Amino acid sequence: MRTDTPQTIYRKDYAPPAYLVETVEMGFDLDPDLTRVATRLTLSRNPESDGKSVVLYGDGVQLVQLRMNGRELTRRGYALGNGVLEIFNAPEQVTLEIETAIHPALNTSLMGLYVSNGNFFTQCEAEGFRKITFFPDRPDVMAKYKVMLRADKKKYPVLLSNGNLIEQGDLGDGRHYALWEDPFKKPSYLFALVAGSLVCQEETCTLKSGREVLLQVWVEEGNLDKTQHAMDSLKHSIRWDEERYGLELDLDRFMIVAVGDFNMGAMENKGLNIFNTKYVLANPRIATDADYAGIESVVAHEYFHNWTGNRVTCRDWFQLSLKEGLTVFRDQEFSADMIGTDSGRAVKRIEDVRVLRQAQFPEDAGPMAHPVRPDSYVEINNFYTVTVYEKGAEVVRMYQTLLGRDGFRKGMDLYFERHDGHAVTCDDFRLAMADANGRDLSQFELWYSQAGTPRVKVETAYDAGQEAFEITLSQSCAPTPGQAEKKPFHIPVAVGLLDSQGLDMPLFLDGSGSAEAFTTAVLELTESSQTFRFKHVKEKPVPSVLRNFSAPVHLDIDYTEAELAFLMAHDSDAFNRWEAGQRLAMRRMLALVKTVREGGQADAGAAGPLHDAFRATLTDSRLDPAFQEFALTLPSETVLAEQLDVVDPHAIHAVRQAMRRSLAQALRGEWQIAYQANRTPGEYSPDAESAGKRGLKNLALAYLVELDDDAAHRLAQTQYDNANNMTDRIGALAALANSSAPGREQALARFYEDFEQEALVVDKWFSLQAMSRKTDVAAVRELMRHPAFTLKNPNRARSLIFSFCNGNPSQFHAADGSGYEFWAEQVIALNAINPQVAARLARTLDRWRKYEPALQQKMKAALQKVAATRSLSKDVLEVVTKSLA
Ligand code: TRP
Ligand code: ZN
Repeated sequence: MRTDTPQTIYRKDYAPPAYLVETVEMGFDLDPDLTRVATRLTLSRNPESDGKSVVLYGDGVQLVQLRMNGRELTRRGYALGNGVLEIFNAPEQVTLEIETAIHPALNTSLMGLYVSNGNFFTQCEAEGFRKITFFPDRPDVMAKYKVMLRADKKKYPVLLSNGNLIEQGDLGDGRHYALWEDPFKKPSYLFALVAGSLVCQEETCTLKSGREVLLQVWVEEGNLDKTQHAMDSLKHSIRWDEERYGLELDLDRFMIVAVGDFNMGAMENKGLNIFNTKYVLANPRIATDADYAGIESVVAHEYFHNWTGNRVTCRDWFQLSLKEGLTVFRDQEFSADMIGTDSGRAVKRIEDVRVLRQAQFPEDAGPMAHPVRPDSYVEINNFYTVTVYEKGAEVVRMYQTLLGRDGFRKGMDLYFERHDGHAVTCDDFRLAMADANGRDLSQFELWYSQAGTPRVKVETAYDAGQEAFEITLSQSCAPTPGQAEKKPFHIPVAVGLLDSQGLDMPLFLDGSGSAEAFTTAVLELTESSQTFRFKHVKEKPVPSVLRNFSAPVHLDIDYTEAELAFLMAHDSDAFNRWEAGQRLAMRRMLALVKTVREGGQADAGAAGPLHDAFRATLTDSRLDPAFQEFALTLPSETVLAEQLDVVDPHAIHAVRQAMRRSLAQALRGEWQIAYQANRTPGEYSPDAESAGKRGLKNLALAYLVELDDDAAHRLAQTQYDNANNMTDRIGALAALANSSAPGREQALARFYEDFEQEALVVDKWFSLQAMSRKTDVAAVRELMRHPAFTLKNPNRARSLIFSFCNGNPSQFHAADGSGYEFWAEQVIALNAINPQVAARLARTLDRWRKYEPALQQKMKAALQKVAATRSLSKDVLEVVTKSLA
């Protein structure tokens, strides 16, 4: 908790550490009430610094003893305050022996060493290691670790840490020990230990080089029937990184451990990845198709960090996207390759862009907007953002778009050749890409330093006489906090031209020098405005611009409704086919919002072209069901809100609902046919093809239930009763929960009874109700009184509180402000338990200025209430201060 004004840390203040650590030896005497940690460090002066002080950080740890080079240091030998321990004028070579005492059972922040369901776990990224011992806890200090764990043998039969198990045995007294050694140098944020009563599934795997490695997935007893998918995902990831990037697992043993109390998704600790149970445990009874896909991608993500993050790490936390953007890009590509088909790849791309638009674009337009490589922070935990992760991944993807797959691979090879074993910067990555390809990528740096989503405006002209088609691209970027003016970005814009048959025209770009015809050209927009000219264009084309979403920008382009329907039907680029449908729907919805705002009705009845286009997509049996599902899903309320200057969440909700009902009505027969045609009888399999069918079938059900009639209620109830997998069960339950079906309450009650032993399913139960249109603030308060609810478990808090505040806009934004009062209460309650989780919830209101005045005032009051709370963590304080600024 804060006792003084929080400090802002600036990127420009970076200085190398005065001392480097060579070796770390640690001994843990594990006890939930009082754990003793003995640490021996060997340090030496860093030739790259002229500092003479050893600087160690500690956070909430009790210093029991401190010895330097064999002699105890008294309070005169060092200074300790504000979490910094400084030893002045230390000699060239230093051995420090540090003894600390910590209280894992009282640690509700879930950072450092904590207890979950009786077992010990650690979480050290970003600055959690300093909650265990005093240490130069910064990622540019890399050292080799040897770790001795001692604990009661009965309660903690399993003792794990990074690297290899060197020795284990009994200590007498019912205690035992295990000694672990990590052969690789690593920053302290990758340290991990796990101790407790756990069981594992293990397999061996032969690497490309022929070396055999041991793979383990550790879970609590009773969960071994839920580990196979994580294990398979790990094996696929190992294979993929060998094949796609020539990167091999460098350890003899690789462990994944699942824990029910966890702040985020998972953590890439060297050789000992620790995961939120949500991203490990799956079987058809408890996990949905989305859960299976999530596990596959998070297992891959953490595994890929072993090279992009661990072997090559970050110099400082401003460089976070160096590892996160790159690793997200890698896991996105992996998941796409696992689906394997072209349409599967496109669907994956659509999903990723949806996340970007839903979450990152709003962030980039709000008070917390920051560059992919931020310039300052108060609390680094607040910068594990969609900008650093998802926009960061888009930035990495643009290298591949600009350099080609082979060029990108060359850049990766050079990156590892230059930087393996080192802590480096985003600039180092960019230079490796540039140098490996003989390209100047200096302008590309602006993607790291400038915040905000650029807008690209497209204007075209066709000259029939010259058979020439010109595309003029102009770019701009709105101001963001601290950045009033922006320089032009280097933007790859992938373009194709469709002829009147809907076929791709061969492209001859003027000045490109290549006589070879291709059908997608990557235009490089580097100035504020540029014109590109295509030759031999025999008829006036319909341009398909920003294919596959080649850059994270807003695209302003004037299409007629007929052109959008044409693109939706014919574009060879599946992403832009989807995009055309979204534009068509968006246009219609924005017009209706305007009508409603002016006092009219949200009458979506006369939506002719949209209905025709949706009908064509729904009935086209050549299309991939997964694609159909996305193409037939209307832009979300959040995405709609982004398009408006003043947000009226109730008007938006009314319009989207009216639109859904009118699509349900107009296409009723088609939805019914699609429902029947996409059943997946037989044994459940989470593969992309079956998952796509279930997705479309459940979308059809959701539309039909919008009609709220007996037939729809029966369809949902029957699906619920007969489901043999969680995807169908939860799809049916969500449909029932949004309806006035007579079986609604009974189904909800039965679901809870059937799954009350499965924490992850109970989370779904809370979350589904939190997001139901029938659930208001009072109902959420009631759910909080349910015996299974607790704020202490992050998954549970997210399932109810976050789901309601972020996923139920029409109820959350209740006109009386009761949703905001509820939000403030929960932020304050969470702040005292877990600042990181509290700060995430605090983000919910950061776009308050965009709302209509009446709501704005109430949101502001709620923010002020939180800001005025005593003993606010710096995590929450930073978020609310920036929101109110
Ligand atoms: N580095 C992790 C990842 O992206 C995420 C992470 C960062 C994390 N900080 C954390 C996880 C704190 C849990 C708690 O894979
Ligand atoms: Zn990561």
